[in-house]
Amino acid sequence: MTAAPHPDPAVVGLQRLVEGVSGLRWNPAQLPGALERLSPLLAAHGGLPGLLSTARAQPRVAEQVAAAFTVGETWFMRIREQLLALPDLVPRPSGGVVRAWSAGCSTGEEAYALAAVFQERGVPVEVWGSDLRADAVLSAQRGEYGRWSFRGVDDALRDRHFERCGEAFRARPALRQAARFLVHNLQDPAPMTGLSVVSCRNVTIYLQPEAVQRVYARLVAALVPGGVLLLAPSDPRPDAALGLELVPLPGASAFRRPAARPEVPRMERPVTPARPVPFTPVPAVPAGPPVDAFAEVRRRAYERPEDPDAQLALALALLDAGQPDRAARTLKFVQTLLDRPDLPEWTLARGQAALAAARQRLERP
Ligand SMILES: C[S@@+](CC[C@H](N)C(=O)[O-])C[C@H]1O[C@@H](n2cnc3c(N)ncnc32)[C@H](O)[C@@H]1O
Repeated sequence: MTAAPHPDPAVVGLQRLVEGVSGLRWNPAQLPGALERLSPLLAAHGGLPGLLSTARAQPRVAEQVAAAFTVGETWFMRIREQLLALPDLVPRPSGGVVRAWSAGCSTGEEAYALAAVFQERGVPVEVWGSDLRADAVLSAQRGEYGRWSFRGVDDALRDRHFERCGEAFRARPALRQAARFLVHNLQDPAPMTGLSVVSCRNVTIYLQPEAVQRVYARLVAALVPGGVLLLAPSDPRPDAALGLELVPLPGASAFRRPAARPEVPRMERPVTPARPVPFTPVPAVPAGPPVDAFAEVRRRAYERPEDPDAQLALALALLDAGQPDRAARTLKFVQTLLDRPDLPEWTLARGQAALAAARQRLERP
């Protein structure tokens, strides 16, 4: 049975925006909490109609609005049977480094767990974690968690990868170096390819059915042949047209992109114009204690002058802060960093894609 439309036309507009931008399924019960989370943005735009008209013109604002409707529940080693099976399951690339993506990583526990299971077996690994929620991505970058994030996790495993930091546990340097995070909307093309593992668990369960299969098609296209897709037992099944093989595991299952299948069917969104993929977040809707996002991004950039990711984040923050000249100078500097001959191939590819996206934003009127 379809629910009656909300009597307030602004709320109907909000529903359309959230569904269109994120693919999320509208749940009216989330409205009060989401409006509460959006209160700083609502105040800044003089109410819902004002916020909606800005969001319609600015995709990043629209994503921030949609992000208020997400559910971010997560913990380290969730569905451990899948994670523990991975090192024996995934193809090892010729360079030896396994690349993995936690798509919809929330505050990052899943990404760090992916890194940990490979490091436990001595396998070099690079993990990208991405989420629509900029505040969650910032929290993932901090890599500090309370006890609740480790529920059901063996203390010894936790302590091998996290060190105590007061009441919290902070990812140790080896784990932190293996995991990188970015804001990414799963409605956009995948920000990377050549992956041995994509984990997108407990994410598509919240999406509309049409959006789910488009997301899966993109995730599968990002996998190398033989690469593994992890979904949670409650997530919708991938369409048979994607040609995935079901891999039974003790107490769980996974999907594998067949080694012999070169092409993945295209299941694109019908009418949405192409948009650049934001590289690193600058949240305007802080969750929990307020974060001075600009200062944080600037601090990272000054601390890591050689790091293209940190410099790109600074360029985007400058763009957001309405300082296009400084942003342009920073982007030029990023180009010089990407010209370095010793840069790993993957970092170069990611950096170039993000640089192109940032330049597009700079050139937009
Ligand atoms: C319940 S958490 C799952 C976290 C982790 N994968 C796990 O299994 O524990 C779902 C996450 O998906 C993210 N999400 C929902 N829709 C998204 C979209 N369109 N693009 C990117 N992330 C999205 C939410 O922000 C949220 O952090």
